Order: sequence, then C-alpha cells, then structure tokens
Amino acid sequence: MSNLGRTFQLKNFELKNRIVMPPMCQYSVEAKDGKPNDWHFVHYVSRAVGGTGLIIMEMTDIEPDGRISDYDLGLWSDEQIPSFRRIIDEVHKYGAKIGIQIAHAGRKAEDAAVPLSSSPIAANKHYRQPRALTTAEVKERVQMFKEAAVRAIKAGVDTIEVHGAHGYLIHQFHSPGINQRDDEYGQDLALFGVEVIQAIKSVMPEGMPLIMRISAVEYMDGGYDLEHSIELCRRYQAAGVDMFDVSSGGEGPTGKKKPANHPGYQVPYARAIKQALQIPVIAVGILDDPALAEATIANKDADLVAIGRAMLRDPYWALHALEGEERKSLIPRQYERGF
Ligand SMILES: Cc1cc2nc3c(=O)[nH]c(=O)nc-3n(C[C@H](O)[C@H](O)[C@H](O)COP(=O)(O)O)c2cc1C
Repeated sequence: MSNLGRTFQLKNFELKNRIVMPPMCQYSVEAKDGKPNDWHFVHYVSRAVGGTGLIIMEMTDIEPDGRISDYDLGLWSDEQIPSFRRIIDEVHKYGAKIGIQIAHAGRKAEDAAVPLSSSPIAANKHYRQPRALTTAEVKERVQMFKEAAVRAIKAGVDTIEVHGAHGYLIHQFHSPGINQRDDEYGQDLALFGVEVIQAIKSVMPEGMPLIMRISAVEYMDGGYDLEHSIELCRRYQAAGVDMFDVSSGGEGPTGKKKPANHPGYQVPYARAIKQALQIPVIAVGILDDPALAEATIANKDADLVAIGRAMLRDPYWALHALEGEERKSLIPRQYERGF
C-alpha cells in the first residue's frame, strides 16, 4: 500500500487518502455577490470525482472589502450559504471531504476604495494606501471571522482553514515588518490570530479540526524567519489549531531573499513546524510528481500533501497518482471502462 493512498484521521475527520486540493482563487463570481456559481460547482466537484481526499475551497472573505477582487467568494451573509451547500453536498457524494478557507485580504484588497490593515502601509506601489483598523474595528473583524465560520458550518463543511498566510490580514498583524501598531494588537503580534482562532473554535463542533495556513518565512527585506513562525504556530496551536498548512511568502515585494522554485521547496518548512510542535501538517509547493508526494508522506515530512497548479491541469491528479487497488477504489462506476 502506498502512503499517499492511506487514510488519515484527525479527531472525527477521516480522509480516504493524503491528497489535498489547496485553496485557489478562481476570481469567477461575475455577479460580485460572493456566491459560488456553476463554474465553482464544476471546478470543485470535478476534483472530488478525480479522487481527491480533501478539497479546500478558495479564499472566502468575511466582508466585501476583505476580498482581493470583487469576483471572489464571500461568507458575510446568510444568503450566500445555499450556493456553498450545493457544492459541498455534491462533493460529499464522491467520498471527498471539503473545507473552506476563511480570510480577509486586508491591504491586498484591490477593489476596496480604502483597504484595511494593521497599519497604514501599502503592500507595494501597485496597491492602494490602506487605513489602520481601530482597536474596536479589529474586534469587529474577529466577530466577522466567527460569523463566517458559522455560515461555513451551516453549509456543511468538514473543516475550516483560517488564512494566516500570504500577506493577508492575519499575516499583516503577526508580521513584525508590517504591524506598527501600539495598541494590544501591536504589543502582541499573534493576538488577532489567536482571537480569530478562539472565536471560530467556539462555534465548531467538537470533533471538527481547524486548519491554519501560515507563511513559514517572509521574503521581504527584514522579513521574519522560521523561528518567528514556529513561535506564532505555538500560540495558534494553544488557541486551538489542529493542523498547519505550511506555505511561505506573499507579504509584499521580495527583497534579497527570493522564494525557491523547485519541486518540494516548502517541504522543509512543513517538517520543521511538524517536528517543533508535534502537530499534523500539510505540505504544499510543486509536489506534482507522485513519487515526490509519496516520499513526503513516507519520510514523515508531512501528513498530507496539497497539489495546486497540477490539479488545475489535471482534475484527476489523485486517480492518476495512485495505482492498483487504491486507484480502483476511487474510480466512479461510470468511468470504470476508461481505466
Ligand atoms: C490560481 C491560484 C490561486 C490561488 N489562490 C489561493 C488562495 O485562495 N488561498 C491560498 O492560500 N493560496 C492560494 N494559492 C496558492 C496555492 O494554494 C498553492 O499554495 C500554490 O499554488 C503552491 O502549490 P503548487 O506548487 O502545487 O501549485 C493560489 C494559487 C494559484 C495558482
């Protein structure tokens, strides 16, 4: 039996294999109402038909101005729940589990007239000048994360991923290079993330795990390193995170340090966080080669592997990566003759 094809259990959450579709924005909500449409339905259900163990729906924002663009998904209103439920119910028919990445773009909101952030510093010269949230407004955002999580749960998710990476709002608080506040959220850089996690945890069913995506390192000059992110993860774990989805970068323009671009380039970060905190992790970043994905699990570098761009090219990546009986058990009856 392969490692990729093994089941995975975390609390009441059981995956049929170790293969994850990571969140990937589709910028496809033409109606600008934050609701997933037929594009999203086909997109996510295809990956479920393709044998994926866990699908994490793209960055889904807690308020309209928390979107990267007006074409992004949102969960700021109960009216948005049914269109998510339609996708989630269908994905479940193929034995896949599904979560939603809940987020706020902060200063990276490109269509907001005045983006919000921890501090009034633009991400780079192409972004608008953001406004710093007041302390009371930060607390309101914690509440909005909680309400979006309630809606995700009503829509039927198996897990929730909090977006704490890629330079979006939570990252804008826990980055020493971005957060210049002098209130409680500046004195303790992890506080906003901790409060968001605690608020979401308070409304999640007992057996449902909470995932957090984190940038393990920053690439801007003076950016934080792995030592800082491990300490952040320690705080977030204590607040209730059950698994980290380990990525990197996205906070702004890269400086002298550049992100690597080779297969498995972020695996060492996943391994470091897993070992330091004894917590399950998802590794991501050019793991398209099934042998590399398999080795990442076999070496215990990570518990799950996420396959992003390769799944855009091939919705049946999981069916193609697994072999023999493991593949056979995933093939929909209607497609058996194709294999
Ligand atoms: C089109 C596209 C959209 C993405 N949108 C998101 C997103 O919504 N949230 C997120 O955390 N990462 C996002 N990412 C990053 C991916 O989840 C993944 O981490 C990245 O593509 C690296 O994995 P890969 O080499 O397998 O593609 C996106 C990537 C792509 C290509």
